[in-house]
Order: sequence, then C-alpha cells, then structure tokens
Amino acid sequence: MSDGQDTQRLAIQFQAIAKHFGVARALDDVSFAVRAGTVHGLVGQNGAGKSTLIKILAGLHRPDSGSIVLDGVETTALSPHQVEKLGIHFIHQDRLLVPSFTVGEALFLGHEPRIAGTPFLNRRAMKRQAEAILQTYFGLHLPTSTLVADLTTAQKQIVQITRALLAQPKVLVFDEPTAALVRREADILFALIRRLRSEGVTIVYISHYLGEIEALCDDITVLRNGQVVVSRPLEGLTAKEIATLMVERDIADMFPKAVVPRGECLLDIRHLSLAGHYQDVSLRLHRGEVLGITGLLGSGAKSFVQTLFGLQTPTAGTVETPDGPVNFTSPKQAVGRKLALVPEDRRVDGVALDLSVAENITLASLEQFSRAGFLAHQLEKTAVERLIAQLQIKTAGPDAPVRTLSGGNQQKVAIAKWLSRHSEIYLLDEPTVGVDIGAKVEIYQVIANLVARGAGVIILSSDLPELVGIADRVLVFFRGRITAELPSHALTADAIFAATTGSAERQQHVG
Ligand SMILES: Nc1ncnc2c1ncn2[C@@H]1O[C@H](COP(=O)(O)OP(=O)(O)OP(=O)(O)O)[C@@H](O)[C@H]1O
Ligand SMILES: [Mg+2]
Repeated sequence: MSDGQDTQRLAIQFQAIAKHFGVARALDDVSFAVRAGTVHGLVGQNGAGKSTLIKILAGLHRPDSGSIVLDGVETTALSPHQVEKLGIHFIHQDRLLVPSFTVGEALFLGHEPRIAGTPFLNRRAMKRQAEAILQTYFGLHLPTSTLVADLTTAQKQIVQITRALLAQPKVLVFDEPTAALVRREADILFALIRRLRSEGVTIVYISHYLGEIEALCDDITVLRNGQVVVSRPLEGLTAKEIATLMVERDIADMFPKAVVPRGECLLDIRHLSLAGHYQDVSLRLHRGEVLGITGLLGSGAKSFVQTLFGLQTPTAGTVETPDGPVNFTSPKQAVGRKLALVPEDRRVDGVALDLSVAENITLASLEQFSRAGFLAHQLEKTAVERLIAQLQIKTAGPDAPVRTLSGGNQQKVAIAKWLSRHSEIYLLDEPTVGVDIGAKVEIYQVIANLVARGAGVIILSSDLPELVGIADRVLVFFRGRITAELPSHALTADAIFAATTGSAERQQHVG
C-alpha cells in the first residue's frame, strides 16, 4: 500500500507555531513536517514543549500564532472533537481515566457502537471488541466490568491505547507511552506500532528512552526550550548524538556511584507474605546500600514495596528496624520511623497540583522546617531553591502552581518533596520514569549522596540499565517470590531480564 509516493505525502505540517503561558515561552516558531505512514519521534528535555505542541494539535490549547496543515489542508482552531473526526487520536501524558468508570466505559465513552438503525448501544459488541483487542494485542485478560480504580498504572495505559485503536486512527500520537510499562509490555507496544505503520497509520512518538526512538522511528524532531533544533530522518544519528542535541552538553557519567561500605542493618525482613501477592520474602537492607528490586507486572515486587510503607498489610512475617519491630498500617507511621517513599503514580499520589512548587516540596517535611519560627521560613526557602536547582526543575519560580509544570517536572517535584526529608530508609518506586536524561543523572547523584551519608535505599525499577548502573545488588520477584539475587559482579540487563521472565536458572536467595 505504501509506495514511494505515499511516504512523501505529509500527514501533519506544523507552521511557525508559537505559544506562551503568561510570560513563559513554551513554543517558538516551531515548524516541521510528519510524513504520512512513518513513525516520527519527538524528543527533548522536560519542559522542552513536546506535550504543549501535541495539545495544540489535539485542539486542547490554542497557539498564539502559526497554523497546522493536516493532509494538505490548513486548519486553525479545531476542536478536540473535530480533530478526532479527522482520525487523529492521542494517548496523552497527563489525561487520567475516570476512576469510577468501568474499563468498558473508559474504552467506549463518546464513540459507542450502536445497534444498526437504532440509537441503542450495542453493549455486547462493545464488550466483545474490547476484550478481543486487549487479549490479542496485549495478552491481557481484563473483563470490561473492571473498575478503572482497580487497574495498575500499566493497565490504565493499555486501556488508553486500546481506546485509541478502537477508533481506527489515521494518525496516532503517543506522549510517553512506555513510561508505565515493563519491558515485555513495551515490546508488545513496539510490535503494535510497527504493525500500524505497515497498515499506513502515521505515528508521532514522544519518549525519553532514546533507545526506543532509535529502534522505532523513521524521522526525528528534537525540541530544546520550545524551538526545533533538528528535524530529519533518523538514519545516521545515534542515541548519544540525540542526547547531546537535547541537552546542549555531553553526558559524562550516566551513573555516578560512590563506593560506600555497608553499615548497620536498617531493615530486617523475615518471611513476609501478603496472601495473593507475595510469599515468604526475606531480605536485609544495610546503611550505605542501594538495593534494587524488579519484577514483571503482578510479580509481587510492587506490593512488597507498598507493604513496607504501610500501604498494604502483610498477612505473615516480621519487619525490624534498629528501633525494634514495626508493623505499619499507614504511610504516616512509616514516615514517623524515618522511611520515605517516592510513589510511582506521582500525579495521583505524589503532588498537589494546585499548590505551589515550594509548598509541595515542604509538605512532607513541615515539622523539619517549622521548628524555629521565622527563621524556618528562610531555611525553607533555601532548601527549596537548592532542590529546584539540583534537580533542574523547570518552573517560573518556587511559587508557581505545580499544575503549570511539564509532566517530567511534576515528577521531579514529587521526588524533591521526599528527598527534602531527613530519612534513613528511602523506598523509590520507579523514580526516573518520565524524567529526562539530564535530570536522571541528577537523581542518581542524589541517591549516591543519600547512601554516602549512611541511608539505605530500596529502588523498585523496571529500567534495567538503571538497576545495573546504580544498584549494589538486585532481587528479582517472579510469581510472588524472590527467585534470584544478583550481586554487583553478576549484574547485567540480560541477567535481570532472564530472571524476571522466569527463564533464568532458579537461584537461591541469601540476603
Ligand atoms: N498550563 C500551563 N500553564 C503554564 N505553563 C505551562 C502549562 N503547560 C506547560 N507549561 C510550560 O510550558 C513549558 C513546556 O511544557 P511541556 O509540558 O510542553 O513540556 P514537555 O516537553 O512535554 O516536558 P516533559 O518531558 O516533562 O513532559 C514548560 O516550561 C511548562 O512549565
Ligand atoms: Mg510532556
């Protein structure tokens, strides 16, 4: 279907798009074209303007100036509904599904199939179509009656993608689709994207994973500070060159890591179980140690970390800190015992969107700052400014509402909020998801500093190179048990991956 002629047809042309939010410039004279039937990568650091551009295309924001040519037709100010009618569909970064909906409602609302010739919904057809797509594309058995609130982040993402597929799109735009996915699901998504391209669908793909961009895209556009740095075929560009174009500097050491001697045991976990999630988990965390934990969706790794923070209650086993046994039934108790958690779903659990950057950062550590009256205010201000600088949070200022920050910068605020506490044990759930490459390195540096001053860190991550780069050892969950412990000298992405899928030889855990 796609002859040479067809790939030259332009599906989307952005023409001199500009957009300001107040005085802040989000986009400036952005012009580039997306060829029909190709996968077009859109990359740039947090706050570069990617999501803003996509929202303009979607009719959610109006540009200050400029226009968009769709399939040769110049358009201005289309409504989201008109854009959908033209066959352009979106998997947005920050559009949440309504938690009280069922999966069926989330999938079909707004374009329900009707019984021919009647205004009545064809519920059976809806259910059949939806479950078939979830099963064939994602191998996911998900009854359409399931509540959105009961889905994991990855499942929600899959539901959003499925919703777009049901509409048989001509153009599909993904704004960081794999952020919530583990490698196996991401592989399924890539296969899907390739198949859609072969069917002639045009794909715009935003991601911070440059390896994905390299593997998937035909063309690439790099945005920096709201401007196009380059827009060209990908061929001949390496991931490293793209990173350099994005950040304007060389990334020297991706994984800064200090050698820290193991100290006293901070957490001694014995035979911990949570029925239906994981069984008989024993491990120790020491001062100075970065302990990596990983596992596929449903492996129990995530529930395990949530238990430690009092979000779930174990059904058996014990947890001891140097101050004695603990049995947290709420995060508040955990915080009282010097634990800090960076939750994965930071948009839901992590930040208060209407509060300012400064308020969010100090929220978790109020007592630390409120000790000495007016002096505390100055202290708070300095601490907040230091964290904003350290994590390179792009914001109009400490008083700007978090809502006005880009997705990745909101993530950084959630992380800063917990790092501003003086804790002993840090539980980090996918701490660098959605964060650009420059800020990733900063977060790794912060982790290195934490352990250097004697804290212990547990990092739950599905980013395998990240685990290899920063963890002292990695425990792998498979079907509710720790099935492998990989010490630093045996840490490779392939070894971890093999263990997460259960294909590695079963190793005995020693902890
Ligand atoms: N609603 C808004 N109000 C004020 N400023 C905004 C708003 N939305 C975005 N901005 C600003 O516009 C700039 C571009 O943000 P955008 O969300 O497009 O970045 P992005 O490239 O998608 O980043 P990320 O990788 O973090 O998602 C940022 O400086 C951001 O603070
Ligand atoms: Mg974004």
